[in-house]
Amino acid sequence: MIESRFGLTTHNGDHVTERDFLGFYLLVYFGFTNCKVVCPRSLAKLSSALDRVGELSARVKPLYVTVDPARDTPAAMKAYLEVRFPRFTGLTGSEEEIKAAKSAFRVFAERKGLDDDYTVPHTAIAYLMSPTGSYLDHFPDSVDEETVVDRMTRLIQSVS
Ligand code: NI
Repeated sequence: MIESRFGLTTHNGDHVTERDFLGFYLLVYFGFTNCKVVCPRSLAKLSSALDRVGELSARVKPLYVTVDPARDTPAAMKAYLEVRFPRFTGLTGSEEEIKAAKSAFRVFAERKGLDDDYTVPHTAIAYLMSPTGSYLDHFPDSVDEETVVDRMTRLIQSVS
């Protein structure tokens, strides 16, 4: 079961938990800012899908949770997201906090490579959570933008 449960720090340095977002749909995606291909592709698709969802997207908080807290400080996430994917709020934390968030969302990610040059292959799925924090839907990287727009629009209209 996918659970919306986390205690993390935003890219602006505020400590938040899932309770701070009650009343909003959450679109939660895990990745890391040094990710060369998958994260940029997913974040671009999700951002574009939210644009196309239109006014309803005001009810959605898109969250980008790092799986690489050692490098993804709040400042690093802010610099990355502000320029390229401004809809997203970056979330980071201690190794333990990130581990707990990954576990709640059933996300897999494990560091691979040398200490100073590593990558973090990760689950590439965006989770849509309801305003009360329950699981609604998930969008793997392979799902196209059209499908994300359709499913997100339908769910936001039908679940209050
Ligand atoms: Ni990635």
